[in-house]
Amino acid sequence: MEELKAAALKVRRNAHAPYSNFQVGAAIRAASGAVYAGCNVENVAYPEGTCAEAGAIAAMVAAGERDIVEAYVVADSPMPVTPCGGCRQKLAEFSGGDVPVTMATTGGVEQVMKMAELLPGAFVAAHMDPET
Ligand code: THU
Repeated sequence: MEELKAAALKVRRNAHAPYSNFQVGAAIRAASGAVYAGCNVENVAYPEGTCAEAGAIAAMVAAGERDIVEAYVVADSPMPVTPCGGCRQKLAEFSGGDVPVTMATTGGVEQVMKMAELLPGAFVAAHMDPET
């Protein structure tokens, strides 16, 4: 957890957030134990911006991994930053319901929730399986 926190705080400093001025860092530990980090990358065409979680997930997948065992998200916010709805779905693609997601402030406040709590009733591949 300390390793994830350090990675998220470090990558947050590289965030490109000139429009919101809200820098976010995310770090995920994959099944191998390796840690992947990402920051938000905004764009002047606002909807083209990407969240920190998306960057960390992309780095994990690019490295050949598919399974998240733990995640950490941090921002300089008054209360622990929670992943947006889209990022909850992105995290759920590679996480079981029991995966802990720590949401944090740069001031040190942390809140931990399981994926199943963050995205109850997630849309999963089974919904498209004609056999189920
Ligand atoms: N943001 C993230 O990167 N992750 C979150 O969990 C919450 C929001 C970013 C998106 C945008 O660049 C900025 O924070 C303000 O919404």
